[in-house]
Amino acid sequence: MRKLAVGNWKMNGLLADLAEIDAIAAAVAEGPVEVVSCLPATLLHPARDKGVTLGAQDCHAEPFGAHTGDLSAPMLADAGARYVILGHSERRRDHGETNAHVAAKVRAAWAAGLTAIVCLGETQAQRQAGQTLEVLKKQLAGSLPEGARPTNTVIAYEPVWAIGTGLTPRAEEIAEAHAFLRAHLPDAGIRLIYGGSVTPTNAAAIFAVPNVDGALVGGASLRAQSFLPIVTALASVAHEPNRTRVGPTSASAAPTHDR
Ligand code: PGA
Repeated sequence: MRKLAVGNWKMNGLLADLAEIDAIAAAVAEGPVEVVSCLPATLLHPARDKGVTLGAQDCHAEPFGAHTGDLSAPMLADAGARYVILGHSERRRDHGETNAHVAAKVRAAWAAGLTAIVCLGETQAQRQAGQTLEVLKKQLAGSLPEGARPTNTVIAYEPVWAIGTGLTPRAEEIAEAHAFLRAHLPDAGIRLIYGGSVTPTNAAAIFAVPNVDGALVGGASLRAQSFLPIVTALASVAHEPNRTRVGPTSASAAPTHDR
């Protein structure tokens, strides 16, 4: 599978901001990296012919019905989405989404032909208590239904404390989490991407970590100027496909940032 750079615009972006999508499309057309822009739902249809693969940021578990204000997976696919982020920690926090809710949404996404980007990650308190791997195991088991394959699923490891904070785990911490998740995936070919304060400055160090197949980028994805250097950093590891897929014992790299 190709390396994957996903931009998560969250609740940002008006029609005028689609100029950023034009700039991204122009730069990534023939590149070795798959680029997905997860836009607010209001921008999906206007962006659908711009040449960038589109994703949504959530979907309802039902395909249609009396759910005021919600959007279903078939609606998002109809508007142009090919991917959908599910179980992001901001939704788990703001909307009380549990692993079971996330699993139901993943099934709905698959039924609509969308690829689910399923987010997992520990809080700072859980990391400090030494519970990271246990939390990841539980979230993975609870959020991922039977039937996950490389063509319908991406897993994003996003430590909650690293999202939007400018903090990132040390490279060996990312390596440990990714090796652990790889070993517990139902199919080892499913792409595992890292998310949480990825920037043009730290991207190359993160992509050098074994078992990192790409990134889920929030703040830095809003402008082509900060997103494209991240795609370029990923493209340089994409030329060495065997380097980043190794077992847990060889996981080591230089620190990216100290907490
Ligand atoms: P960030 O967000 O890059 O702004 O930390 C990442 C995410 O929440 O997906």
